[in-house]
Amino acid sequence: MKRKQLLAALCAGVFAVSSMVPWTAQAKEDTVKVGLILSMTGAFASTGIQIEQGARLFMKQHGDTVAGKKIELVIKDDTGAPDQARRVAQELVVQDQVDVLGGFVLTPLALATAQVSTRSKTPTIVMVAATSSVINASPYFVRSSFTMPQVTIGVAEWAPANGIKNVATLVSDYGPGIDSEKAFIERFEANGGTIVESIRVPLQNPDFAPFLQRVRNQKPDAVFVFLPAGVGTQFMKQFADRGLAEAGVRLLATGDVVEDDILNGMGDVALDVVTSHHYSAAHPSELNKKFVQDFKEAYNGRRPNYMAVAAYDGMKLLYNALEATGGKTGDELLEAMKGQKFESPRGPIHIEADTRDIVQNVYIRRVERLDDGELYNVEFDVLEQVRDPGQSK
Ligand code: PHB
Repeated sequence: MKRKQLLAALCAGVFAVSSMVPWTAQAKEDTVKVGLILSMTGAFASTGIQIEQGARLFMKQHGDTVAGKKIELVIKDDTGAPDQARRVAQELVVQDQVDVLGGFVLTPLALATAQVSTRSKTPTIVMVAATSSVINASPYFVRSSFTMPQVTIGVAEWAPANGIKNVATLVSDYGPGIDSEKAFIERFEANGGTIVESIRVPLQNPDFAPFLQRVRNQKPDAVFVFLPAGVGTQFMKQFADRGLAEAGVRLLATGDVVEDDILNGMGDVALDVVTSHHYSAAHPSELNKKFVQDFKEAYNGRRPNYMAVAAYDGMKLLYNALEATGGKTGDELLEAMKGQKFESPRGPIHIEADTRDIVQNVYIRRVERLDDGELYNVEFDVLEQVRDPGQSK
């Protein structure tokens, strides 16, 4: 065949194939698109960045192809606003035609997008939003993070067993804060403790000083605190300025207040703070050591926190499920996500098939300065394989 004839034949063939399957559809079939809705600007920007980095690290370590499909992340900024989260979720589903949704730092953002997941039947990996009830907002939600009652009960049990009898609680005034306040009070009182006061502070721009002064005047043995990621540094500064430690008031919290990536910058005021949570950068497993080391290498020495680990595990959940379905998405993928068990950098985790929620170890930790001169949450006790107490009832 002459060159010209060959070219003509090739063009005809290409045209015939391309008229049957448009190039875009062809590309779409070979790709699984994951739309991550994250706070990349605004007060919670550091959290969005941790999630993106955790997800990308998983892909860097495990490749970007699974079950013959190329995994593509599409990141959209929700700016921390529920309306914007809903808008970008719609955009991701309708225009970008994503197969999976994920992300969500703040509970109200996950709630605002639940209907989009349900109506479009898009499996959605909740990577933070930790209010217990979030999981019930859509049958397409699967949670790779934690729930507030789950992580709160650890410190609520540790305190009365360690001589702490009177406690004031101080939480952010929205879903996860109310969940953790309730869980703390129930478990602490059931173990013989007394609550002297319960304070709720606004989520946006909180000024802790007047509340801390109130606590100081009452001189309880301790104050239990929940604040969402990103607010801990400001709180710890005001805790030090108000002299609560000098007044004999200990600080107890969930790990959200002493998150790993900002802990080291808090300084000595954080020493000895006891918290309970599901992840510490100091978790002594080989898998975690590699996770922390690779994360630091990839991102200018920054430490991963519990957001990064939830995104990392969320990607593993997706990869495992795609392998199980041979690359199929939709309802089959959702089914394959349910019931998964695997080793995470935080320890063993299980996505319960009937609740779609995470079951995991909750560790009791104390802030210590380790040999490298840095502050860490050092785990010293564990509650094994804890289900969300909100759902266990
Ligand atoms: C939430 O809004 O559910 C949330 C956000 C940040 C946290 C914990 C819970 O650290």
